[in-house]
Amino acid sequence: MCKITLMFDKLFKKKDIATMVAESDDSQGGLRRSLKVSHLVALGVGAIVGAGIFVITGQAAANYAGPALTISFLISAAGCILSALCYAEFAAMLPVSGSVYSYSYATMGEFLAWFIGWDLILEYLFACSTVAVAWSGYIQSLFQGWNIHLSEKMMMSTLDHTADGWVFTGSIINFPAVFIVALVATFLLGGIRQSSLINNVIVVIKVGVILLFIGFGISHIDTGNWVPYIPENTGEYGHFGWSGILRGAALVFFAFLGFDALSTAAQETHNPQKDMPKGILISLIVCALLYVAVTAVLTGIVNYKDLNVDAPIAVAIDKAGESLSWLSPFIKLGAIAGLSSVILVMMLGQTRIYYAISKDGMLPKLFSKIHSKTRIPHNATVFAGIVTAIVAGLFPLHVLNELVSIGTLMAFTIVCISVVVLRVTQPALKRPFKVPFVPFIPILGAIFCLAQMVSLPWNTWFRLICWTIVGFIIYFTYGMKHSKLNHPKK
Ligand code: ALA
Repeated sequence: MCKITLMFDKLFKKKDIATMVAESDDSQGGLRRSLKVSHLVALGVGAIVGAGIFVITGQAAANYAGPALTISFLISAAGCILSALCYAEFAAMLPVSGSVYSYSYATMGEFLAWFIGWDLILEYLFACSTVAVAWSGYIQSLFQGWNIHLSEKMMMSTLDHTADGWVFTGSIINFPAVFIVALVATFLLGGIRQSSLINNVIVVIKVGVILLFIGFGISHIDTGNWVPYIPENTGEYGHFGWSGILRGAALVFFAFLGFDALSTAAQETHNPQKDMPKGILISLIVCALLYVAVTAVLTGIVNYKDLNVDAPIAVAIDKAGESLSWLSPFIKLGAIAGLSSVILVMMLGQTRIYYAISKDGMLPKLFSKIHSKTRIPHNATVFAGIVTAIVAGLFPLHVLNELVSIGTLMAFTIVCISVVVLRVTQPALKRPFKVPFVPFIPILGAIFCLAQMVSLPWNTWFRLICWTIVGFIIYFTYGMKHSKLNHPKK
């Protein structure tokens, strides 16, 4: 009986918030605080704008929402803002690198913190790999446009999951996907300032390309394509009408992922109390506005029925005719650049989660070693690069991306719940940014995420359960025995 109580004590032991903040002090040779609000907004836009707008928009308009996909984007953005407010409260109060992992350690104890940390690794690892595979697709299409044909044995995933189960495709590896992951990991190894600089350049290119499309595309809009704005439901739930708008919102949720990765950079932010909430919220709002504008122009130029393609913006430019054809290669380059920065920020997030868990003793020490010159966790970065390259090279996009949403939704739900828990358990804590109307906003945020999780297929849940079991095995065989909180002398 006593043993069981002791075990429960260990599992639910919480980290002290004051200690966490003290540990994050960069004067002790830890991560360097060099990011300002403008860098954070750029990192946010860098992480958010990617495959969602360059690939998914067309398919969501063609199959589910029609021109009313603009409404889907607004609904999805509103749901994300509920969670983003909760992230902002935590990131300002606890400016440490572990994001939800660290927030859970302070509110719900070690075991749940490990569980969510493991879930975040899933989110960032698979998001990174998904976008790397999408990048490979865009590169191949760019090369084909220049009449350069690459060997099929190096262009596809090694494995695929079909109705018959796992099969070998005949390809050795998805080489472009491996290449971009290796390149991004190399950039990250140069330090946070260098990574942020590269990200800024990429963000200027991709936002520039999107603004060019909106600016030059407006004059080619045929308003007849917007009628009917909400196409009539086909009789099947989710296929046009209001249910289609909702399904469209669930699909384009992917387009907003990434703002949460920003919170992993809190420990590298100059004035996180003020700048983190601004960075998270501004980047989300900027992206929502860009998405609505792009969708309006896209569905105005091309009838939504013709948008079920991989590169919808390129199709719209072709439809606009000769006068816009000069924009076509820029769009492809913009998409390729855009996807690269998503990989960069998601991989950055992954490395900082390894760092935070390792600092707490639940992963080997080598992951939290900081390079004396670049002041980044270099071992964690090399490890994240290798694992992501293997996953991106072996698996196809449809298997990878289904795990991203469920992992993210789980993290969002936990952040929303944690805000309420901490307001009740530690009301006196200094909160530089406060979510308004607590508990309504966090509860609404949690319901929004849970509803989307429930609508995901059983297959996805099964893979999440397998991933979680592996996580439990690592925790009980290593993490629990080495946790600094439970074994302070180790
Ligand atoms: N939001 C990111 C994208 O759309 C994941 O690629």
